[in-house]
Amino acid sequence: MKGLLLAVSLAVLIDISVAVEVCGSKGRGCIEGQALCVDGKCVCQPPNTWGDGAFGCYAPNTVAAQVSSDPKLQNFNNESINFPYPCRYLATHLLTELRNQDNLQVGTCEIMIHSFNAKYRGKFFLHGFDVALNIRYTSGGTVKLSSRHYGIAKSGVYTFKNQGTVGEFYQNGPWGNDDIDYNDYINNVHVTVSKDESNNQLLYQAERCGLRISFVPYDVQDRRAQLSIPGLSIAINTDNHPKWMSKGEVMALAPKDQNGDLFADTVITGFSVEESVFIRAFENEYVQNMPLDDKGKCYATHKAFMKCTRPELRQAIKNCFWMMKKSRFIFCMDKSQSSRKILKLFATCMKVWCATTPCSKAQDLIVKAGCDTIRDIPQVTAFMKGEMCPPVPV
Ligand SMILES: *[C@@H]1O[C@H](CO)[C@@H](O)[C@H](O)[C@H]1NC(C)=O
Repeated sequence: MKGLLLAVSLAVLIDISVAVEVCGSKGRGCIEGQALCVDGKCVCQPPNTWGDGAFGCYAPNTVAAQVSSDPKLQNFNNESINFPYPCRYLATHLLTELRNQDNLQVGTCEIMIHSFNAKYRGKFFLHGFDVALNIRYTSGGTVKLSSRHYGIAKSGVYTFKNQGTVGEFYQNGPWGNDDIDYNDYINNVHVTVSKDESNNQLLYQAERCGLRISFVPYDVQDRRAQLSIPGLSIAINTDNHPKWMSKGEVMALAPKDQNGDLFADTVITGFSVEESVFIRAFENEYVQNMPLDDKGKCYATHKAFMKCTRPELRQAIKNCFWMMKKSRFIFCMDKSQSSRKILKLFATCMKVWCATTPCSKAQDLIVKAGCDTIRDIPQVTAFMKGEMCPPVPV
C-alpha cells in the first residue's frame, strides 16, 4: 500500500516539473512562448522586447502596470512601490481607439479595471480584478461587458473563478454568470477570457482595444517557491492612443508623457511616496465588494482616514502604518485568511490619533491576540509602552 502511494505522488511530481522549466536560482519559470532562460534569467524574446520574462513581456509600443505580491504596485511609468493595502481599488480607467484589422478606427473602448488584494498569513497578495468594457462603434451600436476574475493556487494547482454580465458597464458589479467572450468577425474585434495552462495565467484580451491583461493567482502552499510569479499585468498598446481618465482615483498612474503623473507628483506634503500612495488608496471611496469578507473593515478604515485633519494624519501614519507592514506581526494578529483583525487594529489606531478612541483600546487588541510580547519588532514594544500613543492630558 505504501509503495503504491509513493508511486502515485512521484507521478504527480514529475507531471508538475514538466509543466514549466525552472530558470535560475530563484526557482521561477519563464513565460512559455514569450521568454527564454538565458544564463539563469528569464529574458523576453522579440517581438516582446521588455519586461520580466518570468512575469510579463511587452512590445515596444506598450505601456504596462503590474501588481505583484507583498503587494507591489507598478504604475504605467515603470515606478514600483510597496502597497500594503488589503482592499479594492481602481487600478486604471481609460478610453482607447477601437481599430479594425486594417488599422482603421471604427470606434472607441472605455476600459475600467479595479483590482483587489487579500491576505495570506502575514502577506498581502493580489486576489483578483474586475473589468468594465464599453465598445462604441462609430457606425452606432455598443457592446458592454462586465466581469470579475479571481483565483488562488495550491501546490501548483490553479483555480480561477469568473463571473460576468453582458450588456452592462458595471464598474462595481453585480456580476452574473454570463460568458463575456465577444466576436465581431466583420471588423475582427474579439474579447476573450482564456486560461493559458502552460503559464498558469488567466488572459483577458481585447486586442483591437489595445488591451491585454494577465493574472496569475497566488499559491498559498508554495508561496515563495511558486514557479510562476503571481500577480496582475495590464498592458496597453499605445497605437490605440489611450486617453487616461479618473486621474485622481487611479492607483496605477498613467504615463507622464501621456498626461499622467509620477508617484512623486502625487505626494502629499509631509509624507513619503509610499505613505502618500497608501493614503490615497484609503481616502478614495472605492466600493468594497471583494469575494473575501473584508469589505466592512475596508470601509471602516476609509472612514477612520476621513476623520483625520492633515496634522493628525501625520501622527497617525507615523505611529500606525507599521502595523500594515510587519508581516510577522500581521500574522500574529490575524492568522485567518482575511485581513479583518489587522484592519480593525489599524483603524482603531487611526482613530486614536484622529478621533477620541483611547490608545488602550488598540493596546488591548494587541494583548488579546497575544502579540504584545512578539520579539524583535521595536514598534510593538514602543506601542505597548505608550510611546506611540498621544500624550495623556494632565
Ligand atoms: C518601461 O521600461 C521599459 C524597459 O526599460 C521601457 O522600454 C519603457 O519605455 C518604459 N516605459 C515608460 C513609460 O517609461
